[in-house]
Amino acid sequence: MIGIICAESQEMKEIIRLMDNKKKEKICSLNFTTGVISGKNCVAALSGVGKVNAAMCTQSMILKYNPDVILNVGVAGGISENINIGDIVIGKGVIQHDFDVSAFPGRQKGEISGLGKVEIPCTQNISDKLISASKNIKDLNTHYGTILTGDQFINSSETLHNLKYYFDGLACEMEAGSIGQVCFINNINFGVIKSISDTADSNSTVDFETFIKQSSKNCSKLLLEFIKLNQD
Ligand code: ADE
Repeated sequence: MIGIICAESQEMKEIIRLMDNKKKEKICSLNFTTGVISGKNCVAALSGVGKVNAAMCTQSMILKYNPDVILNVGVAGGISENINIGDIVIGKGVIQHDFDVSAFPGRQKGEISGLGKVEIPCTQNISDKLISASKNIKDLNTHYGTILTGDQFINSSETLHNLKYYFDGLACEMEAGSIGQVCFINNINFGVIKSISDTADSNSTVDFETFIKQSSKNCSKLLLEFIKLNQD
């Protein structure tokens, strides 16, 4: 079974559209939809925004459905010069940019206490398949790199500057890092598909609202191609 987690209903809508035999279930106030996409059993969940919501959703999905892989799918802010609205970023790894115990000697910014890691890698085999799948889609600009996660909507060039100073990432958003951490701890395959809705600057709230629908469509196109590549 393929698990799919989105934070926002606009992101989820495009994925639910792809599903046949839909069934809905509520667990701990979270909405899960099971169904079939291109012959593959899938479960899609709407986590809500932020790291705590996303972690709770991921652990619930693992305990209830035991998926082979969890994909975090949705929009993100682009934080690199060559990344534009509508582009896709496939996750290489995830960093929680707001995890900071660097006040203690020998600890790096972003290092996750207990794990001793800054970046949690996405599962290589999953990222490779996502990259292959992206090549089947016309006119889709795709990048591969690190996603920066924090409980913060980035909306200023100053915050953006600080993020770039400390971390080498391509996009920022609010869930992937915690989903990656929960998958890592549970030994579940993990991948990230993000499409750029804004460039995390002072226009980002307006751009986000304007482009979330189109960018979510780009994500669902890639998800469908990925699932088609995963036929047993
Ligand atoms: N998701 C989409 N755009 C974002 C931004 N600018 N900051 C955080 N999360 C986002």
